[in-house]
Order: sequence, then structure tokens, then C-alpha cells
Amino acid sequence: MFLQKKHDSITDKIDKASCVIVLNAQLHPDKVPEWEEIAALACAVQNMALTAEALNVGAYWSSPDLIAGLSDFLELSVNEKCFGLFYLGYHKEEPRSATRTPTATKVKWMED
Ligand SMILES: Cc1cc2nc3c(=O)[nH]c(=O)nc-3n(C[C@H](O)[C@H](O)[C@H](O)COP(=O)(O)O)c2cc1C
Repeated sequence: MFLQKKHDSITDKIDKASCVIVLNAQLHPDKVPEWEEIAALACAVQNMALTAEALNVGAYWSSPDLIAGLSDFLELSVNEKCFGLFYLGYHKEEPRSATRTPTATKVKWMED
């Protein structure tokens, strides 16, 4: 469903960003499991995020629903899929601490 408010907020974000990298991956369904290619893409995005952080450039990965309808606009090949937008921008914000749950709630140690 097309939502004008959502469309406006995305175009506003694109206007504000210094650069937007479209995260496309060429999948090879006959050779490589899709999850491996998506994991590789996510690792690349993580590296870009770490580089941006080191350079004090603001960055985040966004995956709005509308990317599903962008294949023609992005001229995607067969089996090429868009997995989101990576916004990058200069900013003057002070670093903010993230709200995270303790690692202990996510790791299960098993001893023999
Ligand atoms: C695959 C993926 C898709 C995301 N999509 C969105 C999104 O559409 N909108 C949004 O506000 N945040 C989205 N996020 C979260 C932001 O990118 C988030 O700020 C970023 O993961 C940093 O997380 P942190 O606050 O834990 O450092 C997404 C994250 C990932 C990994």
C-alpha cells in the first residue's frame, strides 16, 4: 500500500543524506545458498558502518518496504535483489550511548 507520509519521510531522508548507497546483491541460487550471500552483504555493510563510525560519519541501514518495488528503477538483473539503503551523512551530534541488553542475555555457555 502506498503511504504518502512514508514516501515523504524517505525522500526527506535521501535529501538530508550526503550519500545513499543502495544495497543490492547478485544472488546465484544454483550455486550458493541465498543466506550466505545475504550474510556476506551484511558483513560488508558492517564494515562500511565501522568505517563510517571511525570517520565520524553518521550511517545506518534502512530497509523500507518500498525497496521491493524498485527493481526497474535500479535496473536490477535477474536474481539481483535490493536489501536496503545505507544512509551516510556528516553531522555535528555528540556520540550517544546505545541502549543494549547485556551480552549475558544473548550468550548461552555450555560446559562439558
Ligand atoms: C537489515 C537491517 C535493516 C534495518 N532497517 C531499518 C529501517 O528500515 N528503519 C530503521 O529505522 N532502522 C533500521 N535498521 C536499524 C538501523 O540500521 C540501526 O540504527 C542500526 O542497525 C544500528 O544499530 P545500533 O543502534 O544497535 O547501533 C535496520 C538494521 C538492519 C541490520
